[in-house]
Amino acid sequence: MSLRILTENIDIPELTSFEVYRKLGGYRSVEKSLKTMSPSGVMEEVKKSTLRGRGGAGFPTGMKWSFLARGIGKPHYLICNADESEPGTFKDRYLMERNPHLLIDGMITSAFALEANTAYIYVRGELFRVLRILEKAIGEAYANGFLGKNILGSGYSLDIFCHPGAGAYICGEETALIESVEGKRGNPRIKPPFPAIAGLWDCPTVVNNVETLASVPWIINNGGEEYAKIGVWKSTGTKLMSACGHISKPGVYEVKMGLPVEEFIYSEEYCGGIRKGNKLKAVIAGGSSVPILPADLILKTAAGEPRLITYESLSEGGFETGTMLGSGGFIVMDNTTCIVKNLWNFTRFYRHESCGQCSPCREGTGWMEKVLYGIENGEGKMPDIDLLEDVAKNIEGHTICPLGDAAAWPVRSAIRHFRSEFEEHVKLKKCPF
Ligand SMILES: Cc1cc2nc3c(=O)[nH]c(=O)nc-3n(C[C@H](O)[C@H](O)[C@H](O)COP(=O)(O)O)c2cc1C
Ligand code: SF4
Repeated sequence: MSLRILTENIDIPELTSFEVYRKLGGYRSVEKSLKTMSPSGVMEEVKKSTLRGRGGAGFPTGMKWSFLARGIGKPHYLICNADESEPGTFKDRYLMERNPHLLIDGMITSAFALEANTAYIYVRGELFRVLRILEKAIGEAYANGFLGKNILGSGYSLDIFCHPGAGAYICGEETALIESVEGKRGNPRIKPPFPAIAGLWDCPTVVNNVETLASVPWIINNGGEEYAKIGVWKSTGTKLMSACGHISKPGVYEVKMGLPVEEFIYSEEYCGGIRKGNKLKAVIAGGSSVPILPADLILKTAAGEPRLITYESLSEGGFETGTMLGSGGFIVMDNTTCIVKNLWNFTRFYRHESCGQCSPCREGTGWMEKVLYGIENGEGKMPDIDLLEDVAKNIEGHTICPLGDAAAWPVRSAIRHFRSEFEEHVKLKKCPF
């Protein structure tokens, strides 16, 4: 059985109750940090762990915390990003539904390190059940003295509020999320200034993903150095992978960083291989926003090394032959999949979710969607393939927030690795699948 940091007790009934979570050793990190450590001591442990943010970008968490503007006479805020709207990604929901106290445990410890007395959980609008579970757990934490004024007599006080979104993918982008918490339309802000300097209500703010914050209790209980021993290179600890698509066993799996992708796909412990004995065609490894890779390049790098579940190995070869770990949304496609149709579907999503502030994203996503629709439905011409690539290139790097890149990368990578499939659609004047 592989190491489990986040999902150790996840199958125990009633883990969502304070009593059961506490009996299993929960909230020890809050006791340890508030009673025996200083805020900077907690931050140092997280730095030592080299934990990287699990929301997609993989930015080192301790370093992000150290950027927080302290001592400028403004309150600090911690926001937990529980928006999770990336297609193919459903690991945060799993964690919050089954172990909400782990997140609250991590948030109290992290807010203490950040000297924040108010924290928010921005929950994806559709997740009504998660919201109810979180609110119940927060209520229990207050009732047992782990939230509110003077927690455990330490002198430290913290309030946590849940803020449901209204169902917009863009509100997962941290500055759009901040706008939304402020009660405005979720339009991303131009950075800099970064939230650590001027975030919520212009105050120093840290935004972290659910899985990131839920990793903090283990780090404080066991020490940052112990956490850093797990995994390889600068990919330490474990990663929650939400696996879906044409595999025998879709689900959420906690893997040790460094697990070979091949083992993840084919072993019975994880995905259990490709459904119905079909052949693996392609994988999108980190949620719909990262480049798609064909079977040979997801199993091995261009240099022939086994591809591992780490930030480094998955991006080996850059975008020519590699991809990104992203949020860990692992979408597997077998040989029955039409890449063009799949891409059209994702592009339609990005067009719908674009906030419309930047012309390349607003116009480009709609344009790509139309061209892809034409190719898929037998109306495409050969120059459309280059046109598609050209539009994607003109979006990439020319927008306020990374949603534009997220829409462009899948298009560029699909053409790079599956151009012949686009051409076949055009030649046949219909979808060959
Ligand atoms: C369009 C878009 C959507 C995003 N959605 C999420 C999300 O649902 N959850 C998340 O944690 N991060 C999301 N992010 C990344 C956040 O902006 C931010 O980097 C992250 O919450 C930081 O947390 P971390 O450092 O713990 O990874 C999104 C980014 C973009 C551009
Ligand atoms: S890239 Fe797209 S989603 Fe992001 S700010 Fe610009 S228009 Fe809005």
